Amino acid sequence: MARPGRFPSGPATEFPMALYSDRTRMMGTENAFKIGPHITRTEASGLSVIRLNIGEPDFNAPEWVIDEVVAQLRAGNTKYCDPQGLISLRCAIARQVGQSRNLTISPDQVCVFPGGKPSIAFTQQLYCNPGDEIIYPSPGFPIYESMVRYVGAVPVPLHLEESEDFTFSPAQLKPLITPRTKLIILNFPSNPTGGVADKTQLEAIAEVILSSCNKDVRVYSDEIYENIIFNDQAHASIASVPGMEKITLIASGFSKSFAWTGGRIGYVVCPTIEEALQFKTLNINYFSSIPPYNQEGARVALEHPDSKGWMANMTAAFERRCHTVIEDLNRIKGVSCQIPKGAFYAFPNIEGLCKRLGVMDAYDSLPEDIQAKTTISTLFQMFALYHHGVAVLDRSSFGSIGSRNQHFLRLSLASSRADLQDGVARLAAAGDDTEGFQTFIAQGSHLF
Ligand SMILES: Cc1ncc(COP(=O)(O)O)c(C=O)c1O
Repeated sequence: MARPGRFPSGPATEFPMALYSDRTRMMGTENAFKIGPHITRTEASGLSVIRLNIGEPDFNAPEWVIDEVVAQLRAGNTKYCDPQGLISLRCAIARQVGQSRNLTISPDQVCVFPGGKPSIAFTQQLYCNPGDEIIYPSPGFPIYESMVRYVGAVPVPLHLEESEDFTFSPAQLKPLITPRTKLIILNFPSNPTGGVADKTQLEAIAEVILSSCNKDVRVYSDEIYENIIFNDQAHASIASVPGMEKITLIASGFSKSFAWTGGRIGYVVCPTIEEALQFKTLNINYFSSIPPYNQEGARVALEHPDSKGWMANMTAAFERRCHTVIEDLNRIKGVSCQIPKGAFYAFPNIEGLCKRLGVMDAYDSLPEDIQAKTTISTLFQMFALYHHGVAVLDRSSFGSIGSRNQHFLRLSLASSRADLQDGVARLAAAGDDTEGFQTFIAQGSHLF
């Protein structure tokens, strides 16, 4: 009897198989990057675009970091290296994180990754079985939500309210905790809202976690904006609350603090050495190792005596811009924007603007299949880009589950003052352009 070929010819009726795995359909994305082709199309139409979409400091990494990377490259430090991260960098991280959080940390608890991002999905893969629940802030960094279903877990958004300064109370967290809660993601200072929970709030949150969660729960505390805090406030980490160090992964990196997004160096400090070794195994499977010359640059970033002053200077620049931009935003009719306490984003509420521009009515008039793909703030976002040349992000880019009736935008303040002023002026003009908006809806392109 003839054996069926490995790749049967003819119609694939015998072995029906979709091209992509089921899991692939569960994968989300980060719109800050996805919006790129829309910007290109807008520019091709002859309109210049002010880019306020991407969270990337408009500073160059400190010269001592660049000098170290170049010196390492010239010295031939260009080979594979320890997949967990160079011991020199892990020692520097353990020292800095330990001192700033009042903890004793072994370099073996540290694992280094290519950027802050990989450890988010890795943490979900490492700790969660299908059906386990992941609590994460919404609005929050998109990657928290985008990979949850991909790993088979259940997304449980913790909605941050404007009225609570975009932090949350223990009373909001408690009802979300169930016996299936495996991972709780926190992010202070927060992207996109700039919310910061202080030490007292973190203590209260920790108490709920310690008293209500399964013993194997893990808290992923994303502290990548730890050095970008306004008003001379000090960074507080939930890992410093007694008892929390046993269940918390402290995540941070060099993209934001050192304006070094292209360096792709981030890390987690794990509660145990064994957990760091599990992350190391993931690194071996995915990357083998991370460029050693950049890791030495990251070590110098942590150790150089001028780094603190350099970060303070950048933060002060963001804070100054922030005040001007927020004043300008609040002058637009129908827009209200809180002053962020950290990170470098403005997150204005645009509900009033959308109402007066007729965005709600336009949304209601759309066919159901289009409605399902867009939201009110998405319509305004796309109109502002294609008709007024300003690239910002809509609310649903920061966690879409349950966000349909929230109308916000995110503007990155990590752009020049001139661009920020021009960008906000363009948003104001878009808000007044009723005729242009009707044309945009009638054309029916780029509604999502
Ligand atoms: C909260 C948060 N976590 C992690 C990251 C990822 O940083 P990286 O560019 O180092 O991967 C970002 C980047 O925007 C972020 O905002």
